[in-house]
Amino acid sequence: MDRTTPLQGKIAIVTGASRSIGAAIARRLARDGATVAITYHASPDKAAAVVDEIEAAGGRAVALQADAGDPDAVRQAVASVAERFGRIDILVNNAGISVLGAPTGIAFADFQRILAVNVTGVFVATQEALRHMGAGGRIIHIGSSMVRYAAFPTASAYTLTKGALSGFTRGLVRDLGPQGITVNTVHPGPTDSDMNPADGPVADFVKPGIAVGRYGQGQDIAASVAFLASEEASFVTGAELLVDGGFTA
Ligand SMILES: NC(=O)c1ccc[n+]([C@@H]2O[C@H](COP(=O)([O-])OP(=O)(O)OC[C@H]3O[C@@H](n4cnc5c(N)ncnc54)[C@H](OP(=O)(O)O)[C@@H]3O)[C@@H](O)[C@H]2O)c1
Repeated sequence: MDRTTPLQGKIAIVTGASRSIGAAIARRLARDGATVAITYHASPDKAAAVVDEIEAAGGRAVALQADAGDPDAVRQAVASVAERFGRIDILVNNAGISVLGAPTGIAFADFQRILAVNVTGVFVATQEALRHMGAGGRIIHIGSSMVRYAAFPTASAYTLTKGALSGFTRGLVRDLGPQGITVNTVHPGPTDSDMNPADGPVADFVKPGIAVGRYGQGQDIAASVAFLASEEASFVTGAELLVDGGFTA
């Protein structure tokens, strides 16, 4: 293994990686040597730009449209990556949406949609990826620090979906440990992105609570994902890593 490209030869999928945190994770895994397949839903041009950027830097990447809330699309995307590259070594379940509202104000259709994308999409992608994953495989979910500290009102549905990933992680660990596959969750704190801009509506409220005094950047989350994806993390499974600048300390 070349120390500068610890993921050389690995095949990775990052869901929801046309922008923001997912794009940073894709760039980092590619920089570490992995071939990276990214999925997207509504931003084909941005997904293509991420692929171009990775290729311009000497990496290998492809983009596939797959709505994380559409189980058939997710299955098909994951299976097509396995067919094209022969297997899957790393799955990063990053695609996620936020639905905010008072508990009585969240429309049922919106609740179903956030469950479909943030929970069902993760389950289906994991299930399909496991059909093509062997020893040394890595499943990494992107949760949220909200599961430890629900910092502001209106996020009950969102927090429910992210809490589900903690349970899913624990359950999978017991099934997959004997196969040499690790499962971990990274919980980002407030991280500058289209979903949560560092100068956005919740920033004034949450920023004073971030111990290091700044919003996270996509690269901060990507660095932790890269570690969990690496050979060095082979004894780390079932972990929930808070990457939040001390927000929940
Ligand atoms: N930013 C934060 O402060 C923060 C904190 C904790 C956890 N998180 C979690 O981190 C993850 C990434 O968040 P982010 O802030 O980077 O979000 P973002 O800025 O809204 O970007 C979301 C990404 O996911 C894709 N996506 C959205 N819906 C999708 C769908 N149905 N199917 C496939 N792809 C979809 C988007 O692609 P398209 O444009 O192509 O749809 C985009 O690439 C999410 O799971 C989020 O819950 C974020």
